Amino acid sequence: MKKYIIGNWKMNQKKEGIEAFFKYVQNHPPSSGTELGICPQALHLPLCLEKAPQFIKIGAQNCAHELSGAYTGEISPEALRDLGIGFTLIGHSERRSLYHEDLKLIEEKVKTALSSGLKVVLCVGENQRERELGKTLLVVANQLECLKAVPYGQNLTIAYEPVWAIGTGLSASPEQAQEVHAYIRSYLFEIFKEKAKEVPILYGGSVKPSNIQELLLQEDINGALVGGASLDPESFCQLYD
Ligand code: PGA
Repeated sequence: MKKYIIGNWKMNQKKEGIEAFFKYVQNHPPSSGTELGICPQALHLPLCLEKAPQFIKIGAQNCAHELSGAYTGEISPEALRDLGIGFTLIGHSERRSLYHEDLKLIEEKVKTALSSGLKVVLCVGENQRERELGKTLLVVANQLECLKAVPYGQNLTIAYEPVWAIGTGLSASPEQAQEVHAYIRSYLFEIFKEKAKEVPILYGGSVKPSNIQELLLQEDINGALVGGASLDPESFCQLYD
């Protein structure tokens, strides 16, 4: 399977920085086995589509649970498609915790996004307390349950992001991550059978140039979802150079 490196810019970057970012990255295409993506904040999607080199796919960080309608402030999956956006993150832990997105809402979002033709990167992961209580796999299984409402494993990527590792500098060890990734793979097998082999499972949580290689060596880690280390173009390129 190819490797996937997706930058999640969260609520960061400004126009000038974005232009400089893509100018730099343009001269650093990935090798053929690597796919790159950037998820800027929604306001910057058109600018990124305009400025990004062809080898970088632009995705959204979130989208609404309905295609269109009276949902002030929301991001329509249909409008994303219309703009030329191919994929979106759904269920990032910051959406779950800060904006109270629950399992039901995330299931609706996954279904609607897929039905609109968007590819979905579903983010899952336990918090510190859940890990300490030995509930990691249980929490992840709960968060994956929404996939039972999805007919095929097509257009789907999973990102395992332990909440305690996000933005803390404290990445999961390759072994800790692999354990959960292997579990996710087996869970996907139950739902999608052989198709599960084709679903990329990315790791996220304090990934940086200095630790990405050992993570990517793990059997079930097919790439990374990177926050902080994807903001700076040099650091972003070092993730795959
Ligand atoms: P981080 O964020 O790389 O800054 O830990 C990852 C994410 O939240 O997707």
